[in-house]
Amino acid sequence: MKVDLSDTRKIIQQYRKKKGILIPLLQEIQADYGYVPKESVDLISKELAIYPVEIYGILTFYAQFYLTPRGRHTIKVCQGTACHVMGGKEILDYLSNKLEISEGETTKDNMFSLERVACLGCCGMAPVVVVDNNFYGRCTIQKLDKLLEKYQEIK
Ligand code: FES
Repeated sequence: MKVDLSDTRKIIQQYRKKKGILIPLLQEIQADYGYVPKESVDLISKELAIYPVEIYGILTFYAQFYLTPRGRHTIKVCQGTACHVMGGKEILDYLSNKLEISEGETTKDNMFSLERVACLGCCGMAPVVVVDNNFYGRCTIQKLDKLLEKYQEIK
């Protein structure tokens, strides 16, 4: 798929000749595209004379950045201690099997991306799953099936 780089060019212009710009620039690119395309990295490297390895160093260090397109909905499964004890691993495995993707991947129809996260700070609700920005506690397989159905309809 060819990436339209006109937005990347506009964003680069805003950051030109500023110092310490790489993280906010990449955040803005991701906000615009939903991820940071390789083509945008190449253009940033060329226009701002920054080595690609430096850009990828930041992209791979910070968990907030994505290098591939994300699904319409992102499902995060907590794997903190409390959630793990309460079945978080089984939930992650179930979703991985059901969606036919591993964590960090996106379904072929671009509907769901699946992620593992550390403690979300609401251990009393373990096991916890977050879909987009909505928290769901005391998750069971039955609840997950209903959630998938619900979000499948939100396009
Ligand atoms: S361990 Fe899952 S919310 Fe704390």
